[in-house]
Amino acid sequence: MKSQGPVARARELREALDLFNYQYYVLDAPTVPDAQYDRFFRELQALEEAHPELRTPDSPTQRVGSAPREGFREIRHKVPMLSLNNGFSEEDVLHFDRRVREILQREQVAYACEPKFDGLAVSLLYRDGRLDEGSTRGDGETGEDVTANLRTIRAIPLRLPLDSPPPLLEVRGEVLMEKRDFEALNRAQAARGEKLFVNPRNAAAGALRQLDPALTAQRPLSFFAYGVGEAVGWPIPDSQGELMERLAQLRFPVPSERAVVQGAEGLLRFFSKMSEIRPALRYDIDGVVYKVNAFSQQQELGFVSRAPRFALAHKFPAEEALSEILDIDVQVGRTGALTPVARLRPVFVGGVTVTNATLHNEDEIRRKDIHIGDQVWVRRAGDVIPEVVSVVLAERPPQARAFVMPSRCPICGSRVVRSEGEAASRCSGGLYCPAQRKQALLHFAQRRAMDIDGLGDKLVDQLVDSGLVRTPPDLYGLGLATLADLPRMGDKSARNLLEAIDRSRETTLSRFIFALGIRNVGETTARDLARHFGDLPALLAADGESLQQVPEVGPVVARSILDFLGEEHNREVIDRLLDCGIRWVAAPALAQRPQPLAGMTLVLTGVLPHLSRDEARARIEGAGGKVTGSVSKRTHYVVAGADPGSKLERAQELGVPVLDESQLLSLLNQDLSKS
Ligand code: IVH
Repeated sequence: MKSQGPVARARELREALDLFNYQYYVLDAPTVPDAQYDRFFRELQALEEAHPELRTPDSPTQRVGSAPREGFREIRHKVPMLSLNNGFSEEDVLHFDRRVREILQREQVAYACEPKFDGLAVSLLYRDGRLDEGSTRGDGETGEDVTANLRTIRAIPLRLPLDSPPPLLEVRGEVLMEKRDFEALNRAQAARGEKLFVNPRNAAAGALRQLDPALTAQRPLSFFAYGVGEAVGWPIPDSQGELMERLAQLRFPVPSERAVVQGAEGLLRFFSKMSEIRPALRYDIDGVVYKVNAFSQQQELGFVSRAPRFALAHKFPAEEALSEILDIDVQVGRTGALTPVARLRPVFVGGVTVTNATLHNEDEIRRKDIHIGDQVWVRRAGDVIPEVVSVVLAERPPQARAFVMPSRCPICGSRVVRSEGEAASRCSGGLYCPAQRKQALLHFAQRRAMDIDGLGDKLVDQLVDSGLVRTPPDLYGLGLATLADLPRMGDKSARNLLEAIDRSRETTLSRFIFALGIRNVGETTARDLARHFGDLPALLAADGESLQQVPEVGPVVARSILDFLGEEHNREVIDRLLDCGIRWVAAPALAQRPQPLAGMTLVLTGVLPHLSRDEARARIEGAGGKVTGSVSKRTHYVVAGADPGSKLERAQELGVPVLDESQLLSLLNQDLSKS
């Protein structure tokens, strides 16, 4: 052995370590003591150290090799990763089998049955027998490149144990965390005082999406194979059952709880057996999967939209448990919707301890007749939010209390309103309410509103979380030093942001109105309001009747505006914004304004010397005209500036009169309407 050259010895060590690894992680049947594994491992490390050319990417020493990354690259799947149709009852299974038999014109069909793992689907691409690329399912078409993270999973072979491996083999399966590993992980989290994971699936998902593979390696992930995608130079067997055997030979973990059965009867027997052993399984499953066994028959059956006709996921029924409503809290969402949430006596259901359940809205509470103090059935299925199914009315205690939606926002104290025909109650303090802060700022800063370039999600999070910004006017008080001190913000970006904030002071009334984030007031309505009222004080003073004189503003929109402007907190924020120097060119109210362009359609092209596109549009609209994007025979004027586009040519072709900026301005000042 000692006379062996380093090349041969390294290969021998790698093969031995691969085998020990397989026995330990896949078969769960180690054949050597840990100490021997470690000795081999260190010897290989030393050899590779001395002869770096021997260090191959598929070496067992290279599982955690690469550095953290910034984000994940997208990978387009060569063969789409499909989803499965779900069945929930015996009837669904019988129906599935009936259709399969009808299409195949068979008396009886053989099915491969497998557990339905509750983890994350991944694809592993082996090029020339080496794990080269691994990705998540994503939307089925494109996933994320998580190769480095998948390499850390010991149950996944880095190398196929074949003398002449195929040029390409794509193995698909599920990454998951075994229950015992999950429990150990949560014990460790608790000991460190860190947040607990809700269930093994979430823990696995979090681990797989770590940007630093070293962190993934610390989380005990497992893998099960259940299919192949693309294969070149690897003859695909005839059936799913045989495929699983072949994958097992390649040292992929496949579930031993699998079977090939005949007909619907066989399916249902498999289902009840799996339901029985489910609690004893080492991993979570949320049902079983049936696949027509013969691949030729699978092909004949084909697909409907995104799911194969040859397979069915038979889900376990959602679990229910009895609990008690201790109280009902109200949460305020990012958009101001108030959601009543039941605080429950903790109950273990569907694999997790549930302490809250959403009650959706007031009507839902009435419909289910839920009182505080009631005994209730709670249901939880898969990853969905737990819900209260029903009340045990016979057990209602005399002191049970009905729920009343608060009239003031529990977060900011603004009035709570509920529009006619809407299920949700909402906080009306949109500009002021801490629950809606981030949303309000993002809306305010967006391009079509105040257009503060660079103020995106991440920055808003930082500004709000650090307490620097509460409401939009705070933006205008930010200083260079404070901003430049924020993590990941340099001097240059801070300067750019301040400039963008400063630039936004000069705006138009319609942008400003849109930026306020009044419910039901989009860009178009904001423009209509601006045109109609001409300036802000007129809008602020409007009542329901005058609001409804604005085109397209009906009772619902009028109500939203009145609710918003009627909230003192919002008024204060608006006043502060004006104090920050936000300004626009005001116009008299439409009713008092000459309408020289009433009924006319204009098209803008090129860069005007003084007016921005927005200003030109606002002025034309203020004069009763309409601005459209393309020139036709019905266009009254084309306004052309420098570098006009093809619109100018088109105007000339059609004989549409062309104006320059000064001609437009004089037209605007002329009263052409016959009064
Ligand atoms: S086969 C063409 N087999 O279920 C069928 N999927 O709803 C492709 N899953 O994203 C999937 N266990 O994550 C298959 N034994 C199993 C499975 C399984 C779990 C998941 C998989 C996929 C989802 C489809």
